[in-house]
Amino acid sequence: MKLTFPDGFYWGAATASYQVEGGIENNDWAEAARQGKVPVAGESSDHYRRYEKDFDIAKSLGHNAHRISIEWARIEPHEGEFNTREIEHYRDVLRALRKRNIEPFVTLWHFTLPLWLSEKGGAEHPDFPEYFARYSSYVVKELNGGCRHFSTINEPTGFSSNGWLRGQWPPFKRWRFFQFLSVSKNLTRAHNLAYQRIKHVSPSSIVSIVKDNIYFHSNRNPLNIVFATYMNWFWNRRFLNKVHRHCDWIGLNYYFHKKFGETKKYPKSDFGWDIYPPGIYGTLLELKRYGKPVIISESGIADARDAYRAEFIKNHLKWCHRAIEEGVDLRGYLYWSLLDNFEWAMGYDMRFGLVAIDYDTKERTVRPSAQVYKKICETNVVQL
Ligand code: FCB
Repeated sequence: MKLTFPDGFYWGAATASYQVEGGIENNDWAEAARQGKVPVAGESSDHYRRYEKDFDIAKSLGHNAHRISIEWARIEPHEGEFNTREIEHYRDVLRALRKRNIEPFVTLWHFTLPLWLSEKGGAEHPDFPEYFARYSSYVVKELNGGCRHFSTINEPTGFSSNGWLRGQWPPFKRWRFFQFLSVSKNLTRAHNLAYQRIKHVSPSSIVSIVKDNIYFHSNRNPLNIVFATYMNWFWNRRFLNKVHRHCDWIGLNYYFHKKFGETKKYPKSDFGWDIYPPGIYGTLLELKRYGKPVIISESGIADARDAYRAEFIKNHLKWCHRAIEEGVDLRGYLYWSLLDNFEWAMGYDMRFGLVAIDYDTKERTVRPSAQVYKKICETNVVQL
């Protein structure tokens, strides 16, 4: 079977600042690491200094798009003080991508907060939307011309559930359901306000949210159908319903499915996450109601042996293709991740990269699956 994707489809991979750059000490995660609550990110893969070489690799792998994030703590290290040297750094990064004909996708905030802001209460602070909108519009204005695609918030639902329900990420609060709801609300406000301010300084920017949707399905038991429908509303729609009018595109991060009433065992990644490609189709169809262009902003697998990655990518793309055939306006696929990286509470054990990193030597080694993906990127075709 030969599946051809639409002309101009974006093919590439994603990273995020704290997970790859190295040398960031003034955010909430670095502080939590100093307190022994999460692993230390330290130098990571030193992408902050080695980005040119890393983009050479992306280019050599046929990528025409790449997603990065900006580290808020670098740009605004103290409240209201912006660091123009760091802006210059990200301008260089964007230039390096464009020089290689790789379309940049910039996420303004990927989980980590400047220390000063987290000490004030972070996303719980009533003025959080204002802080975020000020930072976002500053960055977009300063980078203007360097990039067309901006995302505001990465995975708002996972962020608030890990921080206020599961208690595994800063600020490590457990089962604070009302706070979780109020943080979610603050994040919708932050997105909407940032959208307006960004459009004000840069009307031609394409602005999106990056939403972490889960595919909820069930067996035929009516109770399970109700659970799945409720969870789909609670986890997926609730947030999007409040922000979609302030989105030009929607970014979809797909990693999980949950089938109520089923005990079947699925193949698993090193993380223990089910490998379930049809879920990407289900979550894509769910987004059709919003009538926006969609990009897969993340889809990927922790697979140190590179045993499943190539098939994982192909099978997810097969289902993406079917979603396109059914009318989803899908514009691209960004694999998570270009490089092995710091996987939050799991530290460096999880290996998501198309490119393996030796953290001692910083040596990069392209994994075989990256060559399979390269062929897809270069031909715009998935061969099954
Ligand atoms: C997503 C995050 C990303 C990465 C992948 C595995 O939830 O956005 O930073 O950790 O999961």
